[in-house]
Amino acid sequence: MREKIFAIRAAVEEKLTTATTMEQLEELRVAYLGKKGELTSLLRGMGALSAEERPIMGQLVNEVRALLESEIQTRSEQLKKEQMQAQLQNEKIDVTMPGTRQTVGNRHPLTIALDEIKDLFISMGFSIAEGPEIETDYYNFEALNLPPNHPARDTQDTFYITDNILLRTQTSPMQVRVMEKQEPPIRVIAPGRVFRADEVDATHSPVFHQIEGLVVDKGITMGDLKGTLDIFAKKMFGPECKTRFRPHHFPFTEPSAEMDVSCFSCGGKGCRVCKDEGWIEVLGCGMVHPKVLQNCNIDPEVYSGFAFGMGLERIVMTRYGVTDLRLFFENDIRFLNQFKGVEK
Ligand code: DAH
Repeated sequence: MREKIFAIRAAVEEKLTTATTMEQLEELRVAYLGKKGELTSLLRGMGALSAEERPIMGQLVNEVRALLESEIQTRSEQLKKEQMQAQLQNEKIDVTMPGTRQTVGNRHPLTIALDEIKDLFISMGFSIAEGPEIETDYYNFEALNLPPNHPARDTQDTFYITDNILLRTQTSPMQVRVMEKQEPPIRVIAPGRVFRADEVDATHSPVFHQIEGLVVDKGITMGDLKGTLDIFAKKMFGPECKTRFRPHHFPFTEPSAEMDVSCFSCGGKGCRVCKDEGWIEVLGCGMVHPKVLQNCNIDPEVYSGFAFGMGLERIVMTRYGVTDLRLFFENDIRFLNQFKGVEK
């Protein structure tokens, strides 16, 4: 019996030196000192001992138990200390090290410009309309005076979902949608994504953005159109900016025009940016065609209106001298970061 007790003590003490975690210590305690532990079960075998030996052995077991318990306790405190030291070491912060720089991003140049354009038109009493990117042939073409087989459809080939449902090629269908819902006076802009079956190159993309504008009221004239768009151009390209209107053709406006702005780079003298023209084309516009008003149940004898449509990418390219449209969609941070400073 005595030998067994000493063997248990030696075993526990040896294992104590190799235990490295609190869990191992606890396992050790349970295995030897726990209710079903080896030392405890020795007590159960005491019945076999003689009356003289029994108290002596009982005392010895208890002494060894007390000793082992205190040794386990000591080891456990030592382990805790070691763990704390290790943790402190691990979490040590060297306050003299340079910090990790948090880079702050910026909005996309198209978003910056669009927000500015929205603010500008809101300040002139316009509201903002949004509509579907998946359109019907009726809204995208027919209601805008582009019946099937109209030659002007050729330049706006798009992605068809069915013969009748397509990805809109322009934001102009929003003119019809707004006029159907709202009675004059109307003053809206409708920005959004448009789609065309174009190959990607420096000036074309199958997805790009337009901003449509529409004003309908009694007595609206070409003078209102020119005045409004001239203010827009000066806000967008600077107070020195001049505008000019060239006759053009759009099926849904009559008369129609294209607006040019004087080249921001040379001021109109002619340079590489404007290809020696002195002018840069920025948008299409015109007086809303009487047929389009009629299609929306607005009496062209009572009301008149003007409309305009511009490409957002083109405006931003003109403004910042960006020469490749693809840069807007490639998400190259070296390009995007250059617009950090231009937010107002
Ligand atoms: N929707 C035309 C296009 O994509 C642009 C346009 C021209 C819109 C004249 C208009 C407008 O509202 O009056 O080419």
